[in-house]
Amino acid sequence: MHIATTVSQLATEVSVARSEGKKVALVPTMGALHAGHLSLIAAARKHADFVVVSIFVNPLQFGAGEDFDKYPRTLDADVESLEVVNTDVLFAPSVDDVYPKGSAAKPTKSAGGIGVVYEGAARPGHFDGMLTVVARLFDLVQPDFAVFGQKDAQQLFLIQQMAKADYPALQIVPAPTVREPGGLAMSSRNRYLDAAAHEVAEQLSAALRAGQATAASPSAALESARAFMSKAPEAKLDYIALVAANSFEP
Ligand code: PAF
Repeated sequence: MHIATTVSQLATEVSVARSEGKKVALVPTMGALHAGHLSLIAAARKHADFVVVSIFVNPLQFGAGEDFDKYPRTLDADVESLEVVNTDVLFAPSVDDVYPKGSAAKPTKSAGGIGVVYEGAARPGHFDGMLTVVARLFDLVQPDFAVFGQKDAQQLFLIQQMAKADYPALQIVPAPTVREPGGLAMSSRNRYLDAAAHEVAEQLSAALRAGQATAASPSAALESARAFMSKAPEAKLDYIALVAANSFEP
């Protein structure tokens, strides 16, 4: 695996692959890689002969008081994992490289109406910052395929919407959520949880399963998931919703 830490190193790597006629897939990540990320890379490999993984903790998608400073940065371990799963290039740029001339100050993409509900209501500005970096990565790598996890359903929807409008030649590849044996979706942030909080967090997937099992009507499914969560008083529910896959409307 080659490691590119600057935009120009990345451009050289990608143009060599292109000159060899290779299809290019991009897997954007913020590092602290786990089995969920590795499954995204496996999905990328199914589509393309040249796989670029980016590791960049994007300051623009973190709000004031969020975990930007303490977000886990585990580059050495990540490099080892990426070698094992056969990555062609790791792109691990600095903030200045991704956002030249201080452009990290504000997002240049807007996620629109769907960007301010659910996760967007809980994290104002998050999706504008996320789309800004994803667009920047698309511009730099110009991939044929880009892989994103279904765990972040709203993120995936917004990226699909942006790609349709601005990157019509790019195919977004959704990849299924990878879960721990206890049901909790794998996430780099799970390491923040102590044993007790981890047990509470497992109730989230159990609540989703309870909702899924109540197929009588959408509102009954939601009610059943909500009722399940209310049995875990330590958990404070930000939102739960059932949306149409093609519009993200309730
Ligand atoms: O899902 C993530 O890890 C991030 O939001 C992404 C897509 C890499 C953009 O920073």
